[in-house]
This record gives sequence, C-alpha cells and structure tokens, in this order.
Amino acid sequence: MSLPTAVRIVEVGPRDGLQNEKTIIPAATKIELIDRLSRTGLGTIEATSFVSSKWIPQLADAAEVFAGITRRPGIAYPVLVPNEKGYERAREVGVEEVAVFTAASEAFARRNINASIDESIERFRPVLEHAAADGVRVRGYVSTVLGCPYQGEVPVADVVRVARRLHALGCYEISLGDTIGIGTPARARAMFRAVAAEVPVAALAVHFHDTRGQALANLLACLEEGVGVVDSAVSGTGGCPYANGATGNVASEDVVYMLEGMGIATGVDLPALVETGLWLSARLGRETSSKVARALG
Ligand code: HMG
Ligand code: MG
Repeated sequence: MSLPTAVRIVEVGPRDGLQNEKTIIPAATKIELIDRLSRTGLGTIEATSFVSSKWIPQLADAAEVFAGITRRPGIAYPVLVPNEKGYERAREVGVEEVAVFTAASEAFARRNINASIDESIERFRPVLEHAAADGVRVRGYVSTVLGCPYQGEVPVADVVRVARRLHALGCYEISLGDTIGIGTPARARAMFRAVAAEVPVAALAVHFHDTRGQALANLLACLEEGVGVVDSAVSGTGGCPYANGATGNVASEDVVYMLEGMGIATGVDLPALVETGLWLSARLGRETSSKVARALG
C-alpha cells in the first residue's frame, strides 16, 4: 500500500489533553485554546466531553466551553458522549458531531465507563438513532487496542469485533486507541491490517499515546497500511484517569512535522500550531512534550 498524499488530523488536546489535568483549568482558557487551534488550519478539533462530572471533574464545564467558542465554518468540533444524557446535554448547546467510546478490553470498559462492552454498545444505540434523525455525525472510539492496564494482552480479534460493531451501528469513523501507549510498530501494523480487513480503511483513524515513545513509529506503520486520519494533541498533553500509567497523546506538532516532511499534506500551519502549544504549556506551567516545539520554539 502506498502512503496517503493527505492526512486529516483530529486535534484531541482540548478533550483528551486536558481531561487528566489535576488542577481545574478555567473555562476561559479552554475556550481560548480551541479558538487559537481554530486559526491553525486544523479541520477537526475535539472540544470537550459531556460525561459525568463525578468521573471527569476537569470537563464539568463542557456546556460553558462549547457555548463560548467561536465556531469557524468548515471546522468540525466533536465532543465525547457516553450515553443519551450526554447526547442531550451536547445538543442543548448546539453540538453537531459527537463521539461514543468503548474498549476492546472488558476490564478497561468496566473501569472507564462502568459497563461491559455489550452494555456500552446498547447505550450507544439510542444515541445513534437520535443522531441520525438530527443529522449529527457520530465517531466511535475503541480503546486498549494494543494492550490494557488491567487485562494485559488484548487479542486482535477483540479489536476487530468491537470496531466492526461500531461501524455497523453507524459510526462514520472508528478511532483505534492505544490508550496506554504500549504498542510497537509491528503489532500496530498487524492490528490495523486486521481491522482494515473488516472495516473500510477510509473509515479508520489511529490514536496513539506516546507513553513509551513509540507513537510516531506506530503511526508510520499504520500510514503504510493506508490510514488517512490521525488523532493527536497539541503540546503532547493527555491521558485517561481510568487508565493507570497512560500519559500524553502524540504531539500534534510532531505529527505535522513528520507528515509534511514526508510530503503528506495536513493543511496545518506548523508555526501557528507550535505557538499555540507553547502558549498552552505556559498555562499548564510545564514544558511542552512536543520535541518539534522545543526545537522550533
Ligand atoms: P455511572 O456512575 O455508572 O452512571 O457512570 P449512572 O448512570 O449511574 O450515573 C451516575 C451519575 O452521573 C448520575 O448523577 C447521572 O445523572 C450522571 P447523580 O444521580 O448521581 O447525581 N450522569 C451524567 N452526568 C452528566 N453527563 C452525562 C451523564 N451520565 C450520567 N453524560 C458514565 C457511567 C458513563 C456516565 C461514567 O462512567 C462516565 O461519565 N465515564 C466517562 C469516563 C471518561 O470520560 N473517560 C475518559 C474518556 S475515554 C478516553 O480517554 C480514551 C480515548 O481517548 C481513546 C483512547 O485513548 O483509547 C477516547
Ligand atoms: Mg486517548
């Protein structure tokens, strides 16, 4: 398979990047982050999550944040919803795209959303029905595709089965998440290839956390398998509080640098993205995790 000529980046920093932050970040800062990202050429910015505030206190301000951002034409601003309640809350403030999320590992699904995989999919069914009636697009996430912090190994067949179910349910795109950044390129490639045999490759995205420094290598392996959509977080923030040991997403700046350097178009203005990442890391009071930002900034 030849490399794609263009890749769509799904910027997950405002959601995955911030959800694990211990100190509550003011809504105004989250809004400014999204507005700054909206000026970098990104086409998709995951804005927040309409989940239980008991589970993710950092994103309890989801409605305020979503209502406060300046939505630019042509940019999608999806949000996470775990159930119908989340969908209704999101729609009240005008959300036009949502993402549902489950896992390939039963143990992780239980910890993260207090449900079995089957139960989670039953919760998504009415969300997808309402969304179809409302003209709302739904993305689907499968977590722990290369390993689980509680169960350990996750068979590729389980990843394939869950991805296929989300696609059959009506998710337009399935994002395959290495939640704890445990995979290595040969396993990432084999996993992606197995899923792509059952779900059209055009409907797949990859979501790598960089916990062990493997994210760009894993991404390259999947690019060679034809993936055209990549999740990443500006400044390399991120992690899930229900995934022990999970740290930042692969940094968007590093992904853009690698792709553009390989002649793969992203549409993203790298200097503007680097500036936004440095602005965010100053707000968070720590150094950026993006190597490219450190080199260019
Ligand atoms: P539960 O406690 O089992 O559910 O949580 P419940 O239905 O019993 O509800 C408990 C309380 O939450 C009730 O309130 C509900 O009303 C409320 P109370 O009566 O106690 O006052 N509630 C809600 N409130 C606001 N919005 C909602 C909502 N739903 C219920 N939507 C639940 C089940 C799914 C709600 C919970 O487990 C939850 O919110 N989990 C979210 C965890 C999460 O957000 N994790 C991080 C995102 S996933 C991730 O990071 C991985 C990813 O990046 C990909 C990768 O890296 O692999 C996507
Ligand atoms: Mg994640």
